[in-house]
Amino acid sequence: MGNIKIDYSKALGFIRKEDIAGLGGEVKSHIEALYNKTGKGNDYLGWVNLPNSISYENINEINKTATSLNNCEVVVVVGIGGSYLGSKAVIEALSDNFEMLKERKNPLIVFAGQNISEDYMTELRSMLSNKSWGIVVISKSGTTTEPALAFRILKTDIEKKYGKQGAAKRIVAITDAKKGALRVLAKKEGYKTFSIPDDVGGRFSVLTPVGLLPIAIAGYDIAQLVKGAVDMKKQTEADVPFEQNPAAVYAATRNALLRIGKGIEVMANYNPKLHYFAEWWKQLYGESEGKEGKGIFPASVDFTSDLHSMGQYIQEGQRNIFETVVSIAKPDTKIVIDNDADNLDGLNYLSGKQIDDVNKMAELGTILAHIDGGVPNIRIELPLLNEYYLGQLIYFYEIACGISGYILNVNPFNQPGVEAYKKNMFALLEKPGFEKETKAIKAKL
Ligand code: PA5
Repeated sequence: MGNIKIDYSKALGFIRKEDIAGLGGEVKSHIEALYNKTGKGNDYLGWVNLPNSISYENINEINKTATSLNNCEVVVVVGIGGSYLGSKAVIEALSDNFEMLKERKNPLIVFAGQNISEDYMTELRSMLSNKSWGIVVISKSGTTTEPALAFRILKTDIEKKYGKQGAAKRIVAITDAKKGALRVLAKKEGYKTFSIPDDVGGRFSVLTPVGLLPIAIAGYDIAQLVKGAVDMKKQTEADVPFEQNPAAVYAATRNALLRIGKGIEVMANYNPKLHYFAEWWKQLYGESEGKEGKGIFPASVDFTSDLHSMGQYIQEGQRNIFETVVSIAKPDTKIVIDNDADNLDGLNYLSGKQIDDVNKMAELGTILAHIDGGVPNIRIELPLLNEYYLGQLIYFYEIACGISGYILNVNPFNQPGVEAYKKNMFALLEKPGFEKETKAIKAKL
């Protein structure tokens, strides 16, 4: 089995190799701090050794629970942020683009509680009304408003359909081992539960039951996902030489680029299956680094679609961008372009080639154009799009995020900034306990 590869050669017209390698010593000490728990946010480092701590029994229990929901046509995963994006990213990456319209062996996974849209909830309830269904409700704190509200509504519906006891057999809760409203509720109602380790924060929790259970319900091989993460962990430990450690190289390169004023990183894919992987990455890096007036702004594009929209800005807009292309070396399928006797569309010069050959030349041509336009490039290549390489990619980005946050000298494992909107929303909704804030915010309106 190969490994994912990183190529920073097309950033070198903008920064020197020494600017990257010069960060090597610092990077090594940050990896050591992540392992020895001596850096900022050191009570949230359970994810560092997580891949190796997942036992055969853990995987088995998750797979057994997934199988117990196989009588459902649809499973609604209720959660937001880190309690949603990891499983969404992996399921989307591995699913058929037209999944919804095809015969399926496993339940269809849909999500709720990731927004507060009344339209979304109405349409979800209407779709569920003639389906057999179940719920996986996920919240580490057990008190987040969006999923709590969605679960309240869906719980009523599912109990109406199957009765209280029947519904309880179709609901799984994933939350803190002891604390929070969801733990209390799950205990009272007798739901099957899984715990989220105390020292693993939401956006680093995809390799806990938070991500693994929905992925297993969707029918994917979570043992391979974990194996990929275990193998990437070996490649990114402190004693691996800098140049051979892809996470060290990535963290150093993006920070060297930030230092020359490239404050926006655009993740680009050439396969729309990776759209939600970029959403997961944006949460991981945005919430981990964007604080104290620091951080690289994570943005994303789906190419070639977005070459016909955002491509213009990337080519010629403000020159504060660098681009990271996540590319898949080989597609799973093969479509060879036919020769056409009339050639009215003028495409016979492509006959005999695969669609992916054209995509790869679009990728290379774009990278070269963007470099000419002043956009440095980092390229990350997966040999194939499967569970194993997604596991590698997940752990690669997690460990690089810890390193990069430490280079920026922030605590990558907290998110104090997300409280501001909650405080205002609670004040505006006149939540008990927010009387002072309600008065203050009303005075501003
Ligand atoms: O990364 C994080 O910690 C957050 O994005 C959380 O995952 C998100 O706010 C959801 O929190 P919870 O799982 O407590 O409902």
